This record gives sequence, structure tokens and C-alpha cells, in this order.
Amino acid sequence: MIVLGIDTSCDDTSIAVYNGKENRILSNIVSSQYQFHQEFGGVVPEIAARKHAENIDIVFNEALKVAGIEVSDIELVAVTRTPGLLPALLVGVTFGKGIAYWREIPLKGVHHIEAHIFSPFIGKVPEFPFLSLVVSGGHTLIVLVEGLGKYKLIGKTLDDAVGEAYDKVAKMLGLGYPGGPVIDKIYKKYDGDFIDLPKPRAPQFNFSFSGLKTAVRRLIEKGYPVEQVAASFQKTAIEYLTGKLKKAIKELKVKKVAIAGGVSANSLLRESLKIMQVEKNLDLFLPEMEFTSDNGAMVAYVGYRKFLIEGEDSLSMNAVARSSL
Ligand code: KG4
Ligand code: ZN
Repeated sequence: MIVLGIDTSCDDTSIAVYNGKENRILSNIVSSQYQFHQEFGGVVPEIAARKHAENIDIVFNEALKVAGIEVSDIELVAVTRTPGLLPALLVGVTFGKGIAYWREIPLKGVHHIEAHIFSPFIGKVPEFPFLSLVVSGGHTLIVLVEGLGKYKLIGKTLDDAVGEAYDKVAKMLGLGYPGGPVIDKIYKKYDGDFIDLPKPRAPQFNFSFSGLKTAVRRLIEKGYPVEQVAASFQKTAIEYLTGKLKKAIKELKVKKVAIAGGVSANSLLRESLKIMQVEKNLDLFLPEMEFTSDNGAMVAYVGYRKFLIEGEDSLSMNAVARSSL
């Protein structure tokens, strides 16, 4: 079954073509809009929606071309319907519905976080149960995944998401948007001393990032060098994430661990988890770099599997800005 996967939940227009039966991604095209949002230091929903509308046809045609297929070969449309920026989601959902209606093929709505959770398993078979650390621009969660659609929320952020904290810190430091890749790059080059930043308190396996942001603001006001502040922020934020994850692994006695979302591209997070894998004898599942940030491939992968279990969605399916897993 040839599956089209569409994601327009935030600021990337992404469409993939996936061969469900062979479990193989045939193309995964992502058109990033970050340069249009850079001057605002964050994503502007109306600009995102307009750029998606301008680009989606181009991205779609490119995805078909790279996959070497015709429109008539598509047998299922999977599209992110929630959560995300409503005007942005609507572009993908409307486009997906259009293809499904025109070609008379089934449509499947996909939850964006669910798609991220399975991104380490694209091209493979998921191994349940596993503990997933979801770290993106909008979410920071620890989820116990017992099966497709079977999730237990173990912890979440009580305020900002970690990616959001990266973006806000980068904005304060005048490093532009998105903040994660820039701060990570600075960290890799940096070889000076780190400033001790307090790890925010949050009960159990929950997170809080707003205090860390305030601590960074104070350092900036005191005139510490940009590189030292950025590198110290990354060290603290990643130690905080891995510390909580380690605690959850121990308490829940899990052996399989996965990460997902934009921040799962972070070099220090990936390195720290590889060390933890050896220390704790874990099975570790990291998404390939191209599947860390938003992409259509993860939507196609999950949409196909949900379709096999639940069947199709109606064409009256709608985009929803907020929803839990
Ligand atoms: O999953 P994603 O592409 O979009 C959402 O669904 O939110 O995540 C985007 C987030 C941004 O906040 C960005 O700064 C962060 O992922 N990010 C990183 C890195 N690459 C992207 N954060 C830390 N280190 C990175 N290397
Ligand atoms: Zn995402």
C-alpha cells in the first residue's frame, strides 16, 4: 500500500511517500520556513499557514517525483490533524482531504505526538513496551508506550517545552530562531568552564523550564559571554532531561528507551543516552536525524498502522489545535 504522509502542524511543510507493506520510505520532502519567522523569534501562525498554502503543491510534486510514483499510485492519505497551530494544520488537512476525495481513497488523521513517538522505528518494527522521551518545540513528555494507541503519561512539563526554552534562550542571546541547532553548535565548540545553573524543581517525572530561562536572563544581565551562557544552558537542560529519564527507567523497570522530537537531534542528548545505554544495558532507539524534526514520513508510518487497525476517517474529520495523546 502506497501511503502519502502530510504534516503542516508548525513551520515545516512536509510530505512523504511510504510503501506500507515493504515498510520503506520512498521520499520525505521538508520545506522549512524558519527564515520567515526568524525576525519574530518564534513561529507566527498566520505566516506559517500562508507559506504552507504557497508551498504544499510544490512539496507534494517533489515527493511524488523523488518516490518515482504517479498520483494514481497513492492508496492512503495520512495527515497530521492535531495538535499544532490551527491555521497551519488546516492547510495540510484540507489538502489531504482533497486528494482523498479526488482519488476516492481512504483518509487517516494522525496525532502529531504519536507520529513523533514512532519516528525511531520508521523502516523497522516497534518493540513494546518502551519508554519514550518526547522533546519538541511544543512538548516535553515521558510516555510509556505499551502498543500503538496504548500510552501512559509518566511525566510532562509544567510550563515551557524544552525546545521552546532553547528558542527563548537563543532569542535572549540574540542567536536567532530556531535556537536548538545554534546552541548545540556553540556547545560542541565550547571548551571553557560551565556556570552552575540550578535545576528547576518539579515533582516526580515532571519538568519545569521557566526557572532555567530566568537564570539565563540573570547571567546575560551580569554580562557573561554568550558562548558560556549558551553552553551552560545546554549542559543543565540535557542533564535535567536525562536525570529524570534515568529515574523513570529505574522506577518503571523498563529496558527499552526511545527519544523523539526536534530536540532528539541534540548531540549531547544523543551522546548521554548512548552512555546510559551501556551503563544500564538498555535497548536504545534514536530516530534518524531526518526524522527528528517534523516530517511526513512519521505521519505516513503511524497513519498506515492506525488505518490497518481502525479503518479510515471520514472526510468531515477536522483539524484540532489542542489534544492530549
Ligand atoms: O519536533 P519539532 O521539529 O517541532 C515541534 O513539533 O515542535 O521541534 C522543534 C524544536 C525547536 O524548538 C528547535 O529549537 C529544537 O526542536 N531543536 C533542537 C535541536 N534541533 C532542533 N534543540 C536542541 N538541539 C538541537 N540540535
Ligand atoms: Zn513536532
